[in-house]
Amino acid sequence: MREQDRPVGILDSGIGGFSVARQVQRLMPGEELLYLGDGAHIPYGNHREEEIVAMARYLFRFMEEHGVKALLVACNTISCVIDRCRQEVSCPVFNAIRAGADAVAGLPVEKVGVISTVFTHNSGAYPREILAQSPKKMVVLSCGCPDLARLVEHNLDDPAGMVQVEENLRQELDQMVLEEKIQCCVLGCTHYPLVADSIRRLYPGLPLVDPAEEMARSLRGYLRAGGLEREGTRPGGLSVYTTGDVAEYRLRAGQVGLERIDRVEWYPPMEL
Ligand code: DGL
Repeated sequence: MREQDRPVGILDSGIGGFSVARQVQRLMPGEELLYLGDGAHIPYGNHREEEIVAMARYLFRFMEEHGVKALLVACNTISCVIDRCRQEVSCPVFNAIRAGADAVAGLPVEKVGVISTVFTHNSGAYPREILAQSPKKMVVLSCGCPDLARLVEHNLDDPAGMVQVEENLRQELDQMVLEEKIQCCVLGCTHYPLVADSIRRLYPGLPLVDPAEEMARSLRGYLRAGGLEREGTRPGGLSVYTTGDVAEYRLRAGQVGLERIDRVEWYPPMEL
């Protein structure tokens, strides 16, 4: 197979990486995408570091076996431990936290809020990376949400479930937005952009930073520079694999607006 025709890999603990796949489909419709979500083990954000590393390595090896030409780590929680996983693949790896920090660096703000999983929050990765990438001084506030990713994973588009999602959002975000008056909010877990409309409705005028946009742009820059874009008139398809519930993934993929879904199949989870 020509290098250009190899798929781009996207992985996450669940359906959160669909927010990244969506951006890649918008920006690079020609690319073939291979998605793996570890539905059997979500939420990663409440696991211990050693478990997250072991599970992430398992997902990386799937991608290596499928010969991806680039890998998007569409999970901020795995991105916190990326240096302990990247050796499992031979292709370039793009991570969500670096993308989020790059996106913030270009903004005219001084007080930034980040919402993420508890693991990402406790790791301190976002404040560290934002302060490292930003040319000017910024105050970075971070909030770890123990329940939000799981609530989004299982309740999208279900009216009663979305009431719970919005209650949880208010519980986690009111302090940072209304009291601390952050000037923008980084969606530091890939599940959260899937409920961006709810966040906008709850906090009108609050600018949201979705690292997925920056990830997709960085990927395009890399593929272009190396002559690795998939060309031709036929748009690329999307193969989705999950260690979780195939029917739920098929439903969610459609709900979030993914296109050209060639297959949704089960993949055996790692034994913990
Ligand atoms: N979507 C993942 C992230 O970006 C995490 C959700 C989870 O806790 O598994 O961190």
